[in-house]
Amino acid sequence: MNNFIFQNATKVYFGQGCVKEYLACLVKPYNTVLLAYGGGSIKKNGIYEQVVGILQAAGKTVVEFSGIMANPTYAKVQQGAQLARECKADMILGIGGGSVMDCCKAVSLAARYAGDTWEDFWAQPGIIEVEPLPLGVIVTAAGTGSECNGGAVITHEEKKIKTGRDYPKLNPRFALMDPVYTYSVPVKQMVSGGFDILSHIMETYFSEPNEDNVSDDIMEALMKSVIRNLRAAIRNPEDYTARSNLLWDSTMAENRIIKMGKRCDFQCHNMEHQLGAYTDCNHGCGLAVLHPVYYRHIYRDGLPKFVRFAENVWGIAREGRSDEALALAGVEALADFIREIGLPTTLRELGVTDRSQLKEIADSCGISNGSYRKMTHEEILEIFHACFE
Ligand code: NZQ
Ligand code: ZN
Repeated sequence: MNNFIFQNATKVYFGQGCVKEYLACLVKPYNTVLLAYGGGSIKKNGIYEQVVGILQAAGKTVVEFSGIMANPTYAKVQQGAQLARECKADMILGIGGGSVMDCCKAVSLAARYAGDTWEDFWAQPGIIEVEPLPLGVIVTAAGTGSECNGGAVITHEEKKIKTGRDYPKLNPRFALMDPVYTYSVPVKQMVSGGFDILSHIMETYFSEPNEDNVSDDIMEALMKSVIRNLRAAIRNPEDYTARSNLLWDSTMAENRIIKMGKRCDFQCHNMEHQLGAYTDCNHGCGLAVLHPVYYRHIYRDGLPKFVRFAENVWGIAREGRSDEALALAGVEALADFIREIGLPTTLRELGVTDRSQLKEIADSCGISNGSYRKMTHEEILEIFHACFE
């Protein structure tokens, strides 16, 4: 296992009824709350009414920052930061999935920083010394795990860059996670979020070290949990057990625990983020298209781990197969699962209709240092062409 430092600053309140039970107490230290949310699903499912009722009863001044889009843009971040400064918000309360949580993190940084956070933070690896505005989140969808880390992914539309950074001070102070709040997520989005969880785990699992380490063991259990519970939630979207497991799987995949001692790959994420920057495609759907094709390309470079994946995650018996055949059977089981749960399998289905765009997108992708195979931009382009239709 590689050396590591571990800390996670977010306090999680998990379970049915947690907002009603804890929110008033958690906002006690603050006066003006910037209430941030997305396109309005929280007004349809009753979460907005409940939260505003609690904040008003607690005597808070509530200023709304709404309309955070999927794949949040830097322009939206700047709008939120300006609003936070104008209304002198002393905390941000974000209600939503990854897009809302990520945008809130970026706003909390920009609201307290005099310079341009794109130039000084998102676009480069340096650290900026700033104490972000305190942030709390109410999670409404399982997927990104953004509630328990300092990471956020922001799109600069003009520059066509979608990029993420993890800044430990951006960990939300608290995360309220009620699985019932996720019941109303449309099935297509639930499946996309579910695949994002699986992707985060696979991006970590398929990386050095390969020798015995507890992170790989935890990840096999998590992957099996995601697969089982996603199937159960598709059968019955109001299955509390399945929704609870998916919501916590999502946190566990991105609260840094499984990354301890691992190098991590995230090459598929690098590729998907740039597809998103050019086409605004859905994150989990983009990952579903890329993963099997990427793994068919690299499995020989990480053969023992791919064999383990086939046997331990998909339960495939060797039955006389060579290591290569067994590893490939695991990748094909993943591809079958993607089809079974109704995710797209081609770039065309994602809305990428122009092959001539692919080279520019491929050339803009970051190259992972943690992959079993050090990719080139030519290989990324090959993968995009193989995914096209
Ligand atoms: O806009 P609202 O009204 O919130 O509706 C959303 C949106 O339309 C809807 N939704 C969420 N909860 C709902 C609901 N609809 C009904 N009932 C509910 N309870 O679902 C749609 C998608 O929401 P979004 O937040 O965009 O999805 P997701 O959670 O998948 O987040 C995606 C974003 O997170 C980034 C992605 O790149 C993308 O920008 N990521 C963030 C990461 C992180 N911070 O660690 C890691 C990930 O790898 C990822 O890159
Ligand atoms: Zn992701």
